[in-house]
Amino acid sequence: MKILGARLTGFRNLVDEEIEFSSGVNLLLGGNGQGKTNLLEALNFPALGRSHRGARADELIRFGEQHLHVHLELEDDDGSRRTCEFGLDRDGTRRFRIDGKQITRRTELVGHLATVFFWPQSVDLVRGGPEQRRRFADQGLSGLDPAYLAALSAYQRALRQKASLLRDLRRGFRHSGDARDELAAWNRELAKQAVPVGMGRAEWATLIAPFAAGVYADLAGQPTPLEFLYRPRLAALQETAEKGDLTAGILAEFDYIGADESRRGRPLTGIQFDDFEVRLGELDLRVFGSQGETRTAAISLILAQSDVVHERRRVRPVLFLDDIFSELDRDRARQLQERCARDHQIFIATARADDVAGWQPEAMRQWRVEDGRLTTLP
Ligand SMILES: Nc1ncnc2c1ncn2[C@@H]1O[C@H](COP(=O)(O)OP(=O)(O)OP(=O)(O)O)[C@@H](O)[C@H]1O
Ligand SMILES: [Mg+2]
Repeated sequence: MKILGARLTGFRNLVDEEIEFSSGVNLLLGGNGQGKTNLLEALNFPALGRSHRGARADELIRFGEQHLHVHLELEDDDGSRRTCEFGLDRDGTRRFRIDGKQITRRTELVGHLATVFFWPQSVDLVRGGPEQRRRFADQGLSGLDPAYLAALSAYQRALRQKASLLRDLRRGFRHSGDARDELAAWNRELAKQAVPVGMGRAEWATLIAPFAAGVYADLAGQPTPLEFLYRPRLAALQETAEKGDLTAGILAEFDYIGADESRRGRPLTGIQFDDFEVRLGELDLRVFGSQGETRTAAISLILAQSDVVHERRRVRPVLFLDDIFSELDRDRARQLQERCARDHQIFIATARADDVAGWQPEAMRQWRVEDGRLTTLP
């Protein structure tokens, strides 16, 4: 999959312009705060329908402007082309169009642009808290399967309602008697949505692990038993069972913990507490990994997403590498660049020209980014 070109209007500090990209390597050079990440953020936006750094619409619109518009020209691996547009207004209105046709739900966006985004925070995937690993799985799965995204969103909506009800109960704003039915209804909805999310996460872990082990072996130069294991909070999801039994099992767990939840005023179990364990041989890397090991494992897992997308959808996602080479020694950095460039279109942003010095891939375009303006470099 490739982004052939882009036309940007009103996106952060980027000067309105039309850019044509290389279908191989695209290099963005420039000092800090010039607009490199902003451009990657704009290009990656339609992949998930939001900013990879979690920015709100009003942060993305250029200071002093009322809206932004981005138009992308995309090409699939089979050569077919389509346009993808999005527009955001300060009042919160969002518009997406594929080939000129308006899209109303975020789930309909899934699959039109497949990307893998790599940035300095990515290396916290192994070392950081469980929310990092959940986000990794959720983003990966959402990009593959609209049904996963829909179930996850429905779960999160129901969870907010349940949490607010439990808070009200604890503060005495509601009577436990008349809240009981409402709580039971939220629990039924949560159990129903937890099943596809939990099953998706379990499948994702088994799918990605062997690919990640392969990348790790390449980068480390030796075969390694890298593992990625789903560690759900709900006991029901720890077993392999039929869907129907799962829902009943989860409901039973909600019932069991219900009195505790009411007392403490918050939900105490569910897929919002899930984690994944990253193991290298016998070691839990989160606890025992060296810096180099955890970093390489994180990079391997993220790159492995590309293999998963390829296996499932027969397309190679566009790779964004934002300022990550300072995290690696020179040999590993070069190896990573070459591996990524082998079968993907890639976008690299860096403030240090040294990171890519002497690298001459087949098809490459490079730009200097200065104060939001792109100048082509020879
Ligand atoms: N909504 C906005 N309107 C105008 N300018 C903005 C907006 N949001 C951010 N900026 C500007 O964009 C700049 C940051 O750009 P960006 O994050 O792309 O930098 P960068 O080139 O990636 O730098 P670094 O090498 O430090 O990562 C900041 O100077 C900021 O003032
Ligand atoms: Mg940046």
